[in-house]
Amino acid sequence: MHYPFWDSSISYGLLMGCIAVLHVFISHFAIGGGLYLVWQETLARKSGDQQGLDFLERLSKFFVLLTLVMGALSGVGIWFIIGLINPAATEVLIHNFVWFWATEWTFFIIEITAAIIYFYGWKTLSAKNHIIVGWIYFASAWMSLFVINGIITFMLTPGDWLTTGNIWDAFFNPTFWPSLVFRTGMSVMLAGFYALLIASRYPAHDFDGFKERLVRKNALWGLTGLILLVPSFVWYWKAIPTEITTNALAMMKIPITSMHQGYWYAGAAALLLIVFGLILPRRCSTVVAVALMICGLMLFAKFEWFRESIRKPYAIGGYMFANAVEVAHTPIYQSEGYLKHMTFRTGDDGADLFRRACQSCHTMEGSRALKPVFDGTDKEFIAAIIKGVEALKGNMPPFYGTEEEARLLANYIYDKIDKRPLSEIYGLHGAPLGKKVFEVRCGKCHERGGYNDKTASLIAIGETGYEEFIDTADDYGEAMPAFTGDEAEKEALIEFLKTLGHHP
Ligand code: HEC
Ligand code: HEC
Repeated sequence: MHYPFWDSSISYGLLMGCIAVLHVFISHFAIGGGLYLVWQETLARKSGDQQGLDFLERLSKFFVLLTLVMGALSGVGIWFIIGLINPAATEVLIHNFVWFWATEWTFFIIEITAAIIYFYGWKTLSAKNHIIVGWIYFASAWMSLFVINGIITFMLTPGDWLTTGNIWDAFFNPTFWPSLVFRTGMSVMLAGFYALLIASRYPAHDFDGFKERLVRKNALWGLTGLILLVPSFVWYWKAIPTEITTNALAMMKIPITSMHQGYWYAGAAALLLIVFGLILPRRCSTVVAVALMICGLMLFAKFEWFRESIRKPYAIGGYMFANAVEVAHTPIYQSEGYLKHMTFRTGDDGADLFRRACQSCHTMEGSRALKPVFDGTDKEFIAAIIKGVEALKGNMPPFYGTEEEARLLANYIYDKIDKRPLSEIYGLHGAPLGKKVFEVRCGKCHERGGYNDKTASLIAIGETGYEEFIDTADDYGEAMPAFTGDEAEKEALIEFLKTLGHHP
């Protein structure tokens, strides 16, 4: 690791999530908006629909100014944040895709220029030239998506690049095409939703039914985009290697929950579009349009969250872990340790190991904090958890440091935790204390009714076997730690385990 670490009390994922989601919203608005404007302008000019043209001019102000200004600002924001939180992965992306970035920036400059000319040219350009500029705006916006899409999809599915090192294998990777169609659909949908939001503000009972026509038309745009999302998401899911998807379905709560929530938002959006867009367009109030916009944005955010979290434990699938540990270097770390290969060290080795191995996803006391989950435990337990961290819920990268480094990191965490026994921290005894002991000492790897559930095997052990099972806990799986709680905790745990069979 040749970069310094950045300490932040807000977790990296949250920061990245906020800035990235804002940026992808804006950039997809710009693409869909470009298509919407030039397409509708062509139709309106053909039919001499002046009211329609006035509406489009109004709309272009949002698409062009807000999306480009905010798009450019939030785009810079993404570079800023990824450079801070994962400079090594950012470096891989820059090195590999340098000409693609150059191409993308060229398209972005064309896009901005065309958008500005389009916006200021409503009155001054001829109809034909204005439409040509509109097409240039849309085409260059979509081409910048085309290029970025290759880089984003590469991170999840680098495909043959891992063995060939060929940049075209990296770019046209397994999820490239489905993701491109999906993102195009998303762009069309969001543009329709925004146009609908503006249309909803027109008076419902205008004399010539303008609102009615406009709302229907925009709802159809939204629906077309939404419908495109369905087959392209199925295609996308199928293009992800099955090892990833089957493991996710069995073990990964975060991406799968996001995906399911996405279905609900898609369903709600479809319902609103059909009822208030197609059947009762005059009733399409601003409240409905705002609700629709929220559904659309939430759907998109859930997709992005799904994509980011299903990639775990990697930042670049099979190549670099999310904490910037390079897969190819892991044998070196295992024999020589992390510390030796860190250019920037602070003198506090435990803290540096935390920064290297865990800080990309955890803080000690802020968001996704480690202190509270270790309160009331002991050094041996913490060290065991570090050494077996890949067996925990959360799809974490294994700890590749040495035995000694695991101990240093454990000491660092132990220094910060509440050292009173669990019974005192939580004021519990008997079976309720046992339940807590289970949560703290077992629940990180075995959730009851969830991740790697062992309730059935525990019941099968039977009441008389618990003591022996606990005493020999470290024999059961390579990552499973020995039980290092005190006698009172052990007794309470046994008492709790005895209740398992009675509460199915
Ligand atoms: C790639 C991101 C990532 C890295 C790196 C990472 N973790 Fe995690 N960790 C997670 C996620 C996500 C969860 C939460 C899973 C959940 O709540 O279902 C988690 C959960 C945990 C838990 C269980 C928390 C609980 O609620 O019981 C512990 C303990 C933990 N991590 C320790 C560590 C340690 C120690 C390190 C460094 C050696 C580390 N993690 C590195 C992502 C990561
Ligand atoms: C660091 C993660 C981790 C912790 C903490 C942990 N286990 Fe395990 N456990 C494992 C692994 C890994 C296995 C073996 C592979 C598997 O079955 O998933 C395992 C296996 C088991 C089994 C199955 C044994 C068999 O032969 O069927 C049971 C039961 C079990 N654990 C109970 C517990 C209990 C009770 C605790 C708390 C005292 C606990 N585990 C703590 C990781 C852990």
